[in-house]
Amino acid sequence: MDPHQSLFRNAFEDKNILITGGLGFIGSNLAHRLVPLGAHITLVDSLIPDYGGNMFNIEGIEKDVRVNIADVRDEHSMNYLVRNQHYLFNLAGQVSHLDSMIDPYTDLEINCRSQLSILEACRKNNRAVKIVYSGTRQIYGKPDYLPVDEKHPLHPTDVNGINQMAGEWYHILYNNVYGIRATSLRLTNTYGPRQLMKHNKQGFIPWFIRQILDGEEVKLFGDGKQLRDMNYVDDVVDALLLAAAKEASNGEICNLASDDPISLLDFVKLLIELNGGGSYAIVPFPEERKRIDIGDFYGDYSKIKHGLGWEPKTPLREGLSRTLAYYKEFKSAYWEEDA
Ligand SMILES: NC(=O)c1ccc[n+]([C@@H]2O[C@H](COP(=O)([O-])OP(=O)(O)OC[C@H]3O[C@@H](n4cnc5c(N)ncnc54)[C@H](O)[C@@H]3O)[C@@H](O)[C@H]2O)c1
Repeated sequence: MDPHQSLFRNAFEDKNILITGGLGFIGSNLAHRLVPLGAHITLVDSLIPDYGGNMFNIEGIEKDVRVNIADVRDEHSMNYLVRNQHYLFNLAGQVSHLDSMIDPYTDLEINCRSQLSILEACRKNNRAVKIVYSGTRQIYGKPDYLPVDEKHPLHPTDVNGINQMAGEWYHILYNNVYGIRATSLRLTNTYGPRQLMKHNKQGFIPWFIRQILDGEEVKLFGDGKQLRDMNYVDDVVDALLLAAAKEASNGEICNLASDDPISLLDFVKLLIELNGGGSYAIVPFPEERKRIDIGDFYGDYSKIKHGLGWEPKTPLREGLSRTLAYYKEFKSAYWEEDA
């Protein structure tokens, strides 16, 4: 039984909810959770090829949500779409760190400029909306100390991190100056069903899962000892809903993190065990990745734990088992076998 069920029902039943990036990984899992709570949901997504949007992600709820194929860079669409919404989960983003270095202006347009224009759309058309922005722990860069709390300095190591930092702060500014309630959660590596798996630019977790399922050798860069924390997507959805439902989040920035940081090597070994087979090799760091690598990282989530009552509930082993089972069943919706 969900301990937050009655809070969520009171907050979201019969409410209008806009999710930008709603056909992507986290946005679609959020939609699956909101449908049974009786929310009226609109998903905005550009479905740009090679980004995370996938129509299969709303399989089973396609009749219960409205889908609007629009780009958050289009100010006219956003001016219209934010009207009459009670909540805006602002999750659309260009999420590849490598692409942000190859094509920095697209990252700037989507992750920075559009965030400002979405907030302007709210200022002009719907000041009563509550906004939850999905920030990222990437903006801390290479940690000065561990675990990383919200007071840690921000020194991003790539263009994506800089634009995400600005995107986040626009939200806090509009909360503070215009009273448009907004909050940011700094997500860490999130995994689970409905993630983009067709290429390896969206983080190492989906890529390792795909390689293990395809019987390919996983390549670990450096020595594989880099520590990371990871959250199962249902726990991240919980945090997004709590941040939306609780007024205590207004103007606040909170880390998400997990209790059990794991080395990439141990992570791959766990995947191999749960899959019942697989292999890996330790290889030197490719130069373009080494330049933006951050070494060990794990966060401190005490602020959201004490402030909003969130903690991750899904142990890694359980979350990964569910994730492997999902992709075994629905693999063809996420990637094609190599010819
Ligand atoms: N998944 C993670 O581990 C993680 C970690 C930290 C932060 N985040 C943040 O959470 C958010 C959601 O991430 P995700 O993992 O679900 O990624 P995702 O790529 O699956 O989802 C993002 C969605 O945004 C859509 N989108 C991209 N540009 C758009 C545009 N211009 N207009 C409209 N839609 C557009 C994409 O089509 C995609 O469906 C992102 O902002 C990301 O930066 C995710």
